[in-house]
Amino acid sequence: MRFGGWKLGVELSYTGDLREALDSAGAVVVFVGPDAGEASGTALAALPAAIADAVRRLGDFGLFKGEAGGAQTIPTLGTMKAEYVVLAGIGDGSDDALRQAGAAAAKACRQLKTEEVRALVGADLLRGGADQTPEAVRRKAQALVEGFLLGAAAREPQRREQPAGTKLRVAFAPAREPADPEAEEAFRSGMDRGRMFGEAVAFARRLTNLPGNMLTPEMLALEAEALARDWELDIEVIDEWTAAEMEMGGLLGVGQGSVNPPRMIVLHYEGDPDSKEKLGLIGKGITFDTGGISLKRADGMEEMISDMAGAAAVLGAMRVIGEAKPKINVVAVIPAAENMPSDRALKPGDVLKTMSGRTVEVVNTDAEGRLVLADGLTTAIRRGATRLIDVATLTGAVMIALGDVATGAVTNDDAFLAELLEASRATGERIWQLPSWPEYRKLLESDAADLKNGGGRHAGTITGGLFIGEFADGLPWIHLDIGGTAWMFKERGWELKGATGVMTRTLAEYALRLGAGRTKA
Ligand code: BES
Ligand code: MN
Ligand code: ZN
Repeated sequence: MRFGGWKLGVELSYTGDLREALDSAGAVVVFVGPDAGEASGTALAALPAAIADAVRRLGDFGLFKGEAGGAQTIPTLGTMKAEYVVLAGIGDGSDDALRQAGAAAAKACRQLKTEEVRALVGADLLRGGADQTPEAVRRKAQALVEGFLLGAAAREPQRREQPAGTKLRVAFAPAREPADPEAEEAFRSGMDRGRMFGEAVAFARRLTNLPGNMLTPEMLALEAEALARDWELDIEVIDEWTAAEMEMGGLLGVGQGSVNPPRMIVLHYEGDPDSKEKLGLIGKGITFDTGGISLKRADGMEEMISDMAGAAAVLGAMRVIGEAKPKINVVAVIPAAENMPSDRALKPGDVLKTMSGRTVEVVNTDAEGRLVLADGLTTAIRRGATRLIDVATLTGAVMIALGDVATGAVTNDDAFLAELLEASRATGERIWQLPSWPEYRKLLESDAADLKNGGGRHAGTITGGLFIGEFADGLPWIHLDIGGTAWMFKERGWELKGATGVMTRTLAEYALRLGAGRTKA
């Protein structure tokens, strides 16, 4: 097993040379809006008349309407060098629609037996001037490219004959020359941001899709070390012996049932040494969750390979932070453990002493995420975090409340959450806040310890969140429950089957905004 070194097989470039783009073999992607038929400024104008005509007919017959996420592949039948034209609809041209368009284009390209792709960007996307700021062009380019990578970053199965994985070389080109140089510059910078975000999500998805036997806590730590090496981050990996010295009772309690020992992984990024502010990102890293002695039912348990999706999102965000190097300080903490039943496993009724000193009555060993996160928050605080965001596949209940559509949020600081929500609107990752009234906190009171790890059937996502919030020591804190959004059973737009890598981009976007002073620290 090799650690690190994995790469998404999509190479991106930009060429200002339309003729070169049209003259190459493979597939040409054309992004078209609902009015493709008539509009002359669109990318269609660059294609042979017969192809443009075919597209118009598809529109007339209602077969391709240019709606966001719609795609249609047509053979070029010798009218041009490329064998196929892939039409990808951009709908209303909003950032979300462009992200969908990019994903649809990538999915269509993956089905073709070609590695060479040219993507024509219509004048409507590459136009600067009064009606479109460079910032808007930058965001659109990011959405398009990010969507393309998200659509390409599928789960890679482990097979006897190892498949090569997705391999595409994609050159984006303006559909009309000359393009506005200022807009072109903005487009290229947006492309780079989209590549960075897309690659980080691909990385997070790959980790999450790895089965439990191939990603134990130790292996997750090795992956984090490889990431730290690649992006010049400092890393500490705390093993079970040091964790015992540090009295991490939550992490050790959950990990004690497994032959694969737990790890507390801590990454440091120092981009603003003059500031005392430090963002703490804490990701749940349960590499497999059987439920422990409170064993889960067999049906669907295999999805629990994704119980480290929070850790993957935090690592994905750290990858962006390590590459973009914003002017902020970050400590990322990943409590990693395997939740197993055994003769030495945690039992209902056990009382644990967490690193913070707080004691916890374990009423359900399947509520293990909050136990390891308790020590995760304490670790982040001891390492200087001044504000905290935890990301976790914490509850099945969040799926009952919000389905696979939105991530649930619980916070002790509405202004802090407002800023994160703003970042999430830019990334298109939906987050919905749940209330945190004191009545819910009461459900965690215990006769045996300071608090218990389960609050009963009611409001499970809120009580789970509030348990973790207890360990924030009053610092501004946000909990993101990705129990419904981290894993998809069928694809939807830029989210493919399996791991989604959700919250990677929102955390990264928030961190970059913080660094640019667009969000207050
Ligand atoms: N990892 C699970 C939550 C989960 C379940 C996420 C299914 C995604 C899909 C978590 O550790 C868990 O088991 N939570 C319990 C909490 C309960 C015992 C208080 C749950 O949701 O049932
Ligand atoms: Mn569990
Ligand atoms: Zn779990």
